[in-house]
Amino acid sequence: MRISPKKHPLRGTVTVPGDKSITHRAVIFSALAEGPSEVVGYLPSEDCERTIAAFQEMGISISVEPINGVPSLHVQGKGLWGLTEPTGVLDCGNSGTTLRLLTGLLAGKPFFSVLTGDASLRKRPMRRVIDPLRTMGAEILGRSGGNLAPLAILGKKLHGIDTRLPIASAQVKSAILLAGLTASGVTTVTEPSRSRDHTERMLRSLGARFEERDGRLSIVGGSSYPGKRIEVPGDLSSAAFFLVAGAIIEGSEITIRKVGVNPTRAGLLEVLKEMGAEVTVAPLPSMGDEPVADLTVRSGALHGTTVRGELIPRTIDEFPILCIAAAAAEGETIIQDAQELRVKESDRIATMAGALRGMGVTVEEFPDGMRIEGKKKWKGTFCETHGDHRIAMSMAIAGLLAEGGNEIDDVACINTSFPGFMGLLSTLTGEERKN
Ligand code: S3P
Repeated sequence: MRISPKKHPLRGTVTVPGDKSITHRAVIFSALAEGPSEVVGYLPSEDCERTIAAFQEMGISISVEPINGVPSLHVQGKGLWGLTEPTGVLDCGNSGTTLRLLTGLLAGKPFFSVLTGDASLRKRPMRRVIDPLRTMGAEILGRSGGNLAPLAILGKKLHGIDTRLPIASAQVKSAILLAGLTASGVTTVTEPSRSRDHTERMLRSLGARFEERDGRLSIVGGSSYPGKRIEVPGDLSSAAFFLVAGAIIEGSEITIRKVGVNPTRAGLLEVLKEMGAEVTVAPLPSMGDEPVADLTVRSGALHGTTVRGELIPRTIDEFPILCIAAAAAEGETIIQDAQELRVKESDRIATMAGALRGMGVTVEEFPDGMRIEGKKKWKGTFCETHGDHRIAMSMAIAGLLAEGGNEIDDVACINTSFPGFMGLLSTLTGEERKN
């Protein structure tokens, strides 16, 4: 699909779909609750549908019925031990969160299960979850010595561990805490720096026996809890595309309503402010345990910055669109300590470096990041997304400014996380009003 340049600014107020990470967790924890739950404002994207389908295959009744016009799930929880052995392979599609969190959960269930995914997911490293799970007593086999899916899990009685993760990863942390829910004793996880904490917030708000002390996260095995209504805020990682578009396209002003602004996710807001962007955060009442706000961005001149250290896990999914902000900024931007980007839905350092070079932007690649020289004018390019949703959306935003526009090889992959992205973009560009 070709995204052509727009001569006019982006203006308007939009609502982005529900948070992907919170939706996955809301489905998982509702399925394990004692009794019914409602997940209000869930994200109906391909990734989340994979998690929903997996639980349906394990005997959990989940139906979609709007509440006050908001897309909502009704989940009939069967408790910590209520899942039944799936009769087929659980296909996690493109979703690392589904595959890794379910591996942790199913390692301690009294049945056999097999998890797989699409070509991209089958290349992503799984040893990071399997190693700590094996120390809890899990029996998991996979290709390449257990590092690659498909994974075959022979459920075992697990025991609690006290482990320190070598990388800050919410997926690994959550997989171990989910295994700890049905393990004997206490399971404790510590991370090198803080990754997104939606699992911790949800465990607390559901009333599971979970505690956090000095960065040590502990769950008591057998912590059952009742079902609940869980409200899902808008996804900041989806809002990110419009925040950057509004910041770099002259004359723009965009408000995005009811967005989750959990500080473990909000690195982009800090980076954009540091680059000189005008972003205002108007707090709203929180949803469950998650802080929420209306975000407004106005365009202005950006300058380059350095992003590294503890900011990396809090900004991890926003680097593709941050690369576009950097390419539009005055001066150079340096990204360091971000080697995790190499093992996301695509190698996001290589994919974005290639895409930016195609637009005539100077980029230097490092094993753990890149240096981007900002440029006033970009030429249009052909972009290979490698099926990566966030690359497709980032290059669509860049196409609004690039001379001749950007041709994107695959926009269907956007449905992984953001159904309706193109429609919202045309509302903001004013195209919908003209048609
Ligand atoms: C996620 C955690 C992050 C993030 C991913 C979603 C989650 O991955 O990149 O898109 O929902 O837990 P890692 O845990 O591998 O850093």
